[in-house]
Amino acid sequence: METVLVIGGTGNIGTSAVKASLNSGRKVLAVVRNQKSADKLIQNIGSAEGITFTEADVCSDTGVHGVVDQVRAGKLPAFQHVYSCVGGGYETTSLQDITTSYLRSEMNSSFESNLFAYQATISYLLEQKTNDCTWTLCTGGMGHIAIRPMPAMTQGALFSFATAACVENAKTNVRFNEVCLWFRVEVDAQAEENGAVKATSFAKVYEGILADRSIRGSRVTVNYVHAMINLNHKSKIMSFADIGKL
Ligand SMILES: NC(=O)c1ccc[n+]([C@@H]2O[C@H](COP(=O)([O-])OP(=O)(O)OC[C@H]3O[C@@H](n4cnc5c(N)ncnc54)[C@H](OP(=O)(O)O)[C@@H]3O)[C@@H](O)[C@H]2O)c1
Repeated sequence: METVLVIGGTGNIGTSAVKASLNSGRKVLAVVRNQKSADKLIQNIGSAEGITFTEADVCSDTGVHGVVDQVRAGKLPAFQHVYSCVGGGYETTSLQDITTSYLRSEMNSSFESNLFAYQATISYLLEQKTNDCTWTLCTGGMGHIAIRPMPAMTQGALFSFATAACVENAKTNVRFNEVCLWFRVEVDAQAEENGAVKATSFAKVYEGILADRSIRGSRVTVNYVHAMINLNHKSKIMSFADIGKL
């Protein structure tokens, strides 16, 4: 049975990634910051069945490396897929009021953490040459509309990271994809209160990516609820000839 390594699994998007993994008959290795966060995920999912928890500091450049070392040593389950969705800052602070410490803390938790997760795991997936492996990143349409400047800038950095990873893995066994989400998804109990889409409904998107091997090197745009079922995916890889068509 396959396993999905989920980084940021205790949040809104992470809950949907864990749910999708379990729905598709896979197990989950969830990297959490502490037991309190693990308990939150168990509450969101309704059970701990099929989930192995491990603690690490995902904001450090060594945190997820330590997890992969334990996998290689046979102390944690082997994995074939990675879903990374650390971050979630959603403040409205204007550009001129962004302090240096706020900038650095948000770039670290919402951008660097996801890049560090990639750096720590990609070699492990590439070594599984014959397996269909996937690496999935969640970004937000806020990076385009930018009415919340700080979350917009972290998403902008993630867009470029995702493009670079699509290019790097174009001819490998790893299907790197970016899910760009344009509406609000929250864990089910909170979504009901706030009128957001439920994390368990959003799980359909990741289930679709895992199931469809033609989705690779792509941005999956989820801009309305029907787009959670009929996935709208387009390659992120451009040639120089494409520049003229912009
Ligand atoms: N939710 C949406 O509708 C939506 C829409 C578009 C894009 N996105 C993007 O999806 C990503 C996740 O969003 P989300 O709504 O799922 O956020 P969230 O509910 O706040 O969850 C964020 C996850 O990151 C972890 N995390 C955050 N800061 C951390 C830190 N300093 N150290 C360790 N762990 C940290 C959290 O761990 P703890 O549980 O321990 O706090 C949690 O697992 C973000 O990049 C966001 O921009 C989300």
